[in-house]
Amino acid sequence: MSRSAHPAGPRHADVLPEGHYSAPPADLNALDAKVWAQTVTRDEHGVVTVGGVDVKALAEEHGTPAYVLDESDFRARARAWRTAFGADADVFYAGKAFLSRAVVRWLHEEGLNLDVCSGGELATALSAGMPADRIALHGNNKSTQEIERAIRAGVGRIVLDSFQEIVRVAHIAQSLGKRQRVQIRITVGVEAHTHEFIATAHEDQKFGIPLAGGQAAEAVRRALKLDGLELIGIHSHIGSQIFDMSGFEVAAHRVVGLLKAIRDEHGVELPEIDLGGGLGIAYTSADDPREPHEIAKALTEIVTRECEAARLRTPRISVEPGRAIVGPTAFTLYEVGTVKPLDGLRTYVSVDGGMSDNIRTALYDAEYSVALVSRTSDAAPMLARVVGKHCESGDIVVKDAFLPGDLAPGDLIAVPATGAYCRSMASNYNHVPRPPVVVVADGASRVIVRRETEEDLLRLDVG
Ligand code: LLP
Repeated sequence: MSRSAHPAGPRHADVLPEGHYSAPPADLNALDAKVWAQTVTRDEHGVVTVGGVDVKALAEEHGTPAYVLDESDFRARARAWRTAFGADADVFYAGKAFLSRAVVRWLHEEGLNLDVCSGGELATALSAGMPADRIALHGNNKSTQEIERAIRAGVGRIVLDSFQEIVRVAHIAQSLGKRQRVQIRITVGVEAHTHEFIATAHEDQKFGIPLAGGQAAEAVRRALKLDGLELIGIHSHIGSQIFDMSGFEVAAHRVVGLLKAIRDEHGVELPEIDLGGGLGIAYTSADDPREPHEIAKALTEIVTRECEAARLRTPRISVEPGRAIVGPTAFTLYEVGTVKPLDGLRTYVSVDGGMSDNIRTALYDAEYSVALVSRTSDAAPMLARVVGKHCESGDIVVKDAFLPGDLAPGDLIAVPATGAYCRSMASNYNHVPRPPVVVVADGASRVIVRRETEEDLLRLDVG
């Protein structure tokens, strides 16, 4: 979902729509550092390497398709967020973007906290040793079992999403003899400039309790009365893949307005405010994301300014970046299976994966980049569409991109910036086993999530 919106794909290669692919890049062999993980480069033979390992060796050892994740890049991004926000704020990595035990260990080591939104994510976090008090539990319909498990484990906070849940969590906490730290998630009525399915601050959607009509204030009133709950703050997440800070500014203004109303009505100054995640990354060269230190500075200034105006003590700020940490750290490595030029239209390049390992293009009209990585080429650029092997014409990985005109079966191509929401939203459509996540660091690779096998699929089929 690059910002560069564009009409439906071109009907003719000569009539290209607006967008990053409206003209071929000057050098198809160049790798734009904006969209590739930090250690990605080409070796003296023109083969792309990451973490000191070349992609041909990776394909040979681990097969394709594979998600290839650069550990040092992940750690550097996590650390950059942590450092940018400093000791007076908390960074919760949003596990939904991609979660595995290795990732949990890295986060723990780099001083980040973790946001989980299901029993499965909670189990992964706990099993990899994330201290429970550094975990936040989210979700608009947490099951009784999930709530109970989280409270028993001692999670640092549960983010309440509805009136029923306020009562439910209070009841479960009390029955366990505990007082659970909670935040209330509100919708502040901001239209985030992103795809409808990943915008979450407007009122007409399933998340949060609307600020409008006094509903959020009523939720606070109820939560403050319940012995099983310790209300520590207000939460707002306005959406995902956002570049424009103005949405956060309006959200912070409205959340602080609620904090002030709470102080005036109850004499209580809530100590925390969570502004969610959602910061955009570069999927193509057209995207210009902000650096964590710019984001931290902007958010801290907004909250401080608003609190000073409202004569409130500045609360502890927390944020929940997912995509901005893991998104750029990985690429998906595919082998080309067929190359089909359609006269006057474009060339269809079929790879050995597709919508089962990256649903984002089909679901959100997301834009991606792609490059030939097993060699360089001086051939003229061709307008290509990278498609998968699934039985569906919407099975598109990269809608429009230029690839070298001599691309052939057996070549390896890679789609960068697939670290977030690709493995975590992967499916077994057409009974295609899901690819592994291979981590590279210091000249070596290792598997952190293994490739699914047909035996794995058949094991579930107990009929
Ligand atoms: N906090 C909350 C409460 C969230 O709901 C989300 C994302 C995040 C943090 C992290 O957002 P991020 O920084 O990763 O943008 N599947 C979609 C994204 C859905 C995001 C859902 N919530 C996609 O592939 O773009």
